[in-house]
Amino acid sequence: MDQLREDVLAAIDVAAGPDALEAVRVHALGKQGTVTALLKSLGKMTPEERQVQGPRIHGLREAVNAAIGARREKLEAAILADKLASETLDMTLPVDVPTSGTVHPVSQVMDELAEIFADLGFAVATGPEIEDDWHNFTALNIPDTHPARAMHDTFYFPPDDSGEQKMLLRTHTSPVQIRTMVDQKPPIRIIAPGRTYRSDSDATHTPMFHQVEGLVIDKGITLGHLKWTLETFLKAFFERDDIVLRLRPSYFPFTEPSAEVDVGFSIEKGKRVIGGSEGWMEVLGSGMVHPKVIEACGLDPKEWQGFAFGCGIDRLAMLKYGMDDLRAFFDGDLRWLRHYGFSALDVPTLSGGVGA
Ligand code: PHE
Repeated sequence: MDQLREDVLAAIDVAAGPDALEAVRVHALGKQGTVTALLKSLGKMTPEERQVQGPRIHGLREAVNAAIGARREKLEAAILADKLASETLDMTLPVDVPTSGTVHPVSQVMDELAEIFADLGFAVATGPEIEDDWHNFTALNIPDTHPARAMHDTFYFPPDDSGEQKMLLRTHTSPVQIRTMVDQKPPIRIIAPGRTYRSDSDATHTPMFHQVEGLVIDKGITLGHLKWTLETFLKAFFERDDIVLRLRPSYFPFTEPSAEVDVGFSIEKGKRVIGGSEGWMEVLGSGMVHPKVIEACGLDPKEWQGFAFGCGIDRLAMLKYGMDDLRAFFDGDLRWLRHYGFSALDVPTLSGGVGA
């Protein structure tokens, strides 16, 4: 038994790893193990023999168990020490940006717009997409029989609860002008980005699209303020200093005078690039807020003047990021989004450069 004890303890001592140690354990204490055999032999002994051998054999089993436990702890400590020595952790590495999920280009452009206009002192305002007839048309100087309504054909709902107002999907963001003027005291400086709807559908029109409205109401506001604001906005948005604007006289019922704004482009390597003035592209509608609109909102047009503009956000995104089919924006094709989408951490800031 002394020999066996020596052999087993020696084998435990030299076991090089957890697997080798386990093999030694099975050899000694497994079903067919050498120590197990001794334990079994106790059953065949006379009581006197058992009294002598019992404590020795149990003692042997305990000694073997204790030695295995101690060896296992040693081996595990060695493995841990090894890992600590070989696996280093570089705390200065930048974090891994998770790649699941991207920001839609339209959302990105809306964030860029909010950032640019915040810098100019504009707040962001919102209004409902299901709008009533008065806010969408009448208060904007588009009475029931006005031909401009034909250009804004949309989707109508049953009348509102009072039964007085026709309800519709708003055809532009201009009703937010009305809501803001009714709710807030001037001076007012807001932009209102959001979804708009018209029954239109081809490569450059989708039934749902996005606009951003701009509105300034204050004392002594002129067309000069409008032009400077648009120029500053477009330069920041397209990140170019050579932006040239062309204001073309136009007509909107809610502005007087009205101007359609074109931005100049040039051809670089066969592609249209915003900047310069080799050609012109229409980007937005604008004008001085019509006195009748100011009056409809309960303000005195002799005291308060202002300008407004409305701009297609999808169009801005296409021009800035080089996309060519508007319909792809709303197809929900993930491959398109993965190609054009933005990282969730790519938050536009003016200091960092929008869309950087
Ligand atoms: N609401 C107009 C449109 O959708 C754009 C516009 C807004 C024009 C504000 C002038 C002033 O076409």
